Amino acid sequence: MPKTILITGANGGLGTAVVKKFLDENYKVVAVDHSGSRLGFANNHPQFELHAVELASETESDTFVKEAISLYKKIDGALLLAGGFAMGDIAATDGEALRKMFSRNFETAYYLTRPLFQHMMENGYGRIVLVGARPALQPEAGKNMIAYALSKSLLIKLADLLNEAAKGTNVVVSVIAPSTIDTPVNRKDMPKADFSKWVSPAQIADLLEFICSDKGDPLRAPLYKIYGEA
Ligand SMILES: NC(=O)c1ccc[n+]([C@@H]2O[C@H](COP(=O)([O-])OP(=O)(O)OC[C@H]3O[C@@H](n4cnc5c(N)ncnc54)[C@H](OP(=O)(O)O)[C@@H]3O)[C@@H](O)[C@H]2O)c1
Repeated sequence: MPKTILITGANGGLGTAVVKKFLDENYKVVAVDHSGSRLGFANNHPQFELHAVELASETESDTFVKEAISLYKKIDGALLLAGGFAMGDIAATDGEALRKMFSRNFETAYYLTRPLFQHMMENGYGRIVLVGARPALQPEAGKNMIAYALSKSLLIKLADLLNEAAKGTNVVVSVIAPSTIDTPVNRKDMPKADFSKWVSPAQIADLLEFICSDKGDPLRAPLYKIYGEA
């Protein structure tokens, strides 16, 4: 019986590589995004489904998780990749900018994590992966992206709190903190950068698969700094 893995941000630069990896490794993939424009390769795969869910909506997210649980009975893993980026030092970061990043990075993960964590605790097994970022861990990297760094740091805190609540169980919340990922958007935005120093989406997908596989079973409360050479 393949494990069922929910993947948000599935249509993104990272998400598309992650969907591909998990289908290649025979998981059942329940993908979530606004659009599936870059997921054509998965369309006819028997173990792939795509759902359009507005993850900033608590109601939509909660309904989606309840339907998924009733359909699949057991969600084994959730890779909550949806998020977004914004520059801005303290002068440029007003309340609206702050709320936008909070919603895009924290709420999109929190509203799914809340019902999924409870479901996994009831099952005695589950893997949730949240996406932090280096600016949330290193002030020198975050000082000019205040709202982004703050919203990502909350996810790291959430993982700490849930791992404490899950102590003694086989439910684990992992955090990955990538530096710059080698995506088409980043290449376009930073054409003069040395792309060879960036971490590839496929490398991150391999790590995520390891976390969800039986090989990842002994891991507890991990935080992976995926910085490559950047
Ligand atoms: N790229 C990097 O260098 C980098 C570095 C560190 C961390 N990260 C993090 O890694 C993750 C993936 O990055 P990426 O480069 O793959 O990002 P991306 O290409 O922008 O993909 C993010 C995906 O999430 C979706 N999404 C965002 N808000 C959503 C919402 N409210 N409801 C449903 N879907 C939503 C987006 O859909 P729409 O586009 O349709 O809104 C998009 O397809 C993000 O959390 C990002 O912050 C990225």
